[in-house]
Amino acid sequence: MQLLVTGGAGFIGSNFIRYMLNKYPSISIVNFDKLTYAGNLENLISVEHNPKYHFTKGDICDKSQVHAVIKKHNINIIVNFAAESHVDRSISEPDIFVQTNIMGTQTLLEAAKALQVTRYIQISTDEVYGSLGETGYFTEETPLAPNSPYSASKAGADLLVRAYHETYGLHTNITRCSNNYGPFHFPEKLIPLMITNALENKELPIYGNGLNIRDWLHVEDHAAAIDLVIQAGRPGEVYNIGGHNEWSNIDIVREILTLLGEPMDSIRYVEDRKGHDQRYAIDPSKIMEELQWKPHYTFGIGIQETIRWYLDNREWWQRIKTGEYKNYYKQQYEDRLLF
Ligand code: NAD
Ligand code: TYD
Repeated sequence: MQLLVTGGAGFIGSNFIRYMLNKYPSISIVNFDKLTYAGNLENLISVEHNPKYHFTKGDICDKSQVHAVIKKHNINIIVNFAAESHVDRSISEPDIFVQTNIMGTQTLLEAAKALQVTRYIQISTDEVYGSLGETGYFTEETPLAPNSPYSASKAGADLLVRAYHETYGLHTNITRCSNNYGPFHFPEKLIPLMITNALENKELPIYGNGLNIRDWLHVEDHAAAIDLVIQAGRPGEVYNIGGHNEWSNIDIVREILTLLGEPMDSIRYVEDRKGHDQRYAIDPSKIMEELQWKPHYTFGIGIQETIRWYLDNREWWQRIKTGEYKNYYKQQYEDRLLF
């Protein structure tokens, strides 16, 4: 199996690469990543000398780079993780989301078609379904109703993937997972931001009333699900991935502070995110029944291990937080924390 993993230097892609190399000694993986602010080769230090792992720096929007890497390594499967992934950044700078997430996906699909790639897996998100009220779950039949530029760009990409299956018969799958957590999570997202801010004695900014709900899944459980889809996903099918683990944002932050033994007084309620989705919750019946996937992590164990990882890997996140990230943080939070 010659796998091209795009966006493999990011949070989920790097965890997926480690998972696959551990599980399948004979697999060969090429990580194709542009190394944007979110891409970090330090995430892959543990596999960088593995002869089955290769890294190529490149942009999924660049046709000649994409064709070259597929041809050079005789790729037969593409798993596309590469994306701009942060909702807040999509609100302030939507253009790059359309470029990378939609145009990049189209470039990959076109290359897959032209170069006879046998399977194409698109890593999408439950956010394409929009927002839920107090009850109900997202199924694969829920209509797409994205609300942020991020989720709209992911939905656009999903529709292109569908079209390449319907029109050209490309063997595609789309996975739509709920929020992930775990090691190597970039500290702009809720869980790593709150853990690292608490460790730095900084304020913890909660958008709005803190009652928005997310359905958290450990990143290794996500990797295991993608593996099953690669092995046995039916052509053209969508698979939702989630572990029935809903938490309000404020409860997650309180849990993190409790586990760290820190007081609650660093919590700050700040101006809400524009268009803030109220609730996400996945119905994972299809992947559980068809592909026998089930999550292995309980949230209790997963969050403790994740916090331990951030305690043990301060250099990793401190290096990120002292770089270009400082400008992002100032722009995103300075005014919010002032009022
Ligand atoms: P991330 O931001 O941590 O990583 C994205 C990676 O893509 C980075 O390594 C970056 O350098 C790379 N990249 C960006 N633009 C590129 C381009 N033009 N060409 C090549 N590489 C490029 O993201 P993540 O959290 O690991 O998410 C990975 C995928 O999973 C995304 O497609 C995201 O939409 C999806 N997803 C994420 C979550 C979550 O909770 N984080 C949940 C469901 C789905
Ligand atoms: P995030 O990790 O950005 O994931 P997503 O928006 O893709 O679900 O945010 C998770 C939730 O946490 C979301 O409801 C927004 C909220 N949030 C905050 O309250 N404060 C923050 O500083 C961040 C980054 C997120």
